[in-house]
Amino acid sequence: MAETSLPPARILGIESSCDETAAAVIENGRFLLSSVVASQIDLHAAYGGVFPEVASRQHIKTIYGVVDQTLQQAHIGLGDVDAIAVTRGPGLAGSLVVGLNMAKGIALAGNVPLVGVNHLEGHIYSAWVTKPDGKEPPPAPKFPLMALLVSGGHSELYVMEKHIQYTRLGGTLDDAAGEAFDKVARLLGLAYPGGPSIEKASKEGDPQAFHFPRARLEGTWDFSFSGLKTAVLRLVRKFEEEGKPIPVADMAASFQAAVVDVLVEKTLYAAEEYSAKEILVAGGVSANKALREAFLSKSKLKVNIPPLSLCTDNAAMIATAGYYRFVNGTRDPLDLDALPNWLLV
Ligand code: KG4
Ligand code: ZN
Repeated sequence: MAETSLPPARILGIESSCDETAAAVIENGRFLLSSVVASQIDLHAAYGGVFPEVASRQHIKTIYGVVDQTLQQAHIGLGDVDAIAVTRGPGLAGSLVVGLNMAKGIALAGNVPLVGVNHLEGHIYSAWVTKPDGKEPPPAPKFPLMALLVSGGHSELYVMEKHIQYTRLGGTLDDAAGEAFDKVARLLGLAYPGGPSIEKASKEGDPQAFHFPRARLEGTWDFSFSGLKTAVLRLVRKFEEEGKPIPVADMAASFQAAVVDVLVEKTLYAAEEYSAKEILVAGGVSANKALREAFLSKSKLKVNIPPLSLCTDNAAMIATAGYYRFVNGTRDPLDLDALPNWLLV
């Protein structure tokens, strides 16, 4: 599919896999007409992570308003939509079914096709979306593409030879990168979600203050962050036992540097091995400034990274991935089930 020969279509995307209820309208696969995200972060912060039952009930309360608002902002009605794209998985089962049922209701009422989208491919496709304030979309990422997906639940490396086709090279053996940020933030007494808190604390810290381990797992394309997390835990305990204050900023900066080093090194190496033309980095952790800067400064290849507003969960990315599935012929039935553990292969 050459980018220039893509058929026109307007896609309504719906996302509810975790703790964000989101809807967006994408035109012709690239142009963002509207995007609304209702975050539940404040509700879950008290638990230090996402509380699944609270999440699904909150999705029920907000999803109608979110869809309505995104249609209004796009100045369209349901009759102007060519397909409904919805996150089918992976994610929390109780949360996924709320979005799926909303999408099915709209598909049935409007007699429009339903397209189930993998949340992980959604993150990848966030790099195809126009910046919300932009008039022209950024140049489309070029295949073969080395895609690093780093979120709260996943750290995965894929090669993409063409649209909607993924070869998984490896992924995390234990904690996902975002999960490591969240857990280490908790150890350091920083607020949930941990990624932005660690990034903020790091600004005052020295990334070389402590040398935390970098699990390189030579000979595989897998990642592991649990050893790094344990090293942070041991150091926290040592400071506590010695009755000394925990140097939060230095530890946060040193932890962040270790995560960034491993992610960048491995992705650049994989890009070389697989003769990728370009690199793509997506998912919540791709909002991290140190990670973005390291990729941009160390890579000889072009690195596609979505704008900050599209790094964390949103529906623009689901609508965009849905567009490419739709023009590839995907039409899903109205008894489509959620796939909470759906791997992208
Ligand atoms: O993609 P996402 O919104 O949800 C999932 O699909 O998991 O990613 C959320 C994850 C959380 O673990 C959060 O701590 C992390 O992304 N994150 C960050 C940053 N912003 C969000 N990690 C590092 N630096 C950030 N600035
Ligand atoms: Zn996500």
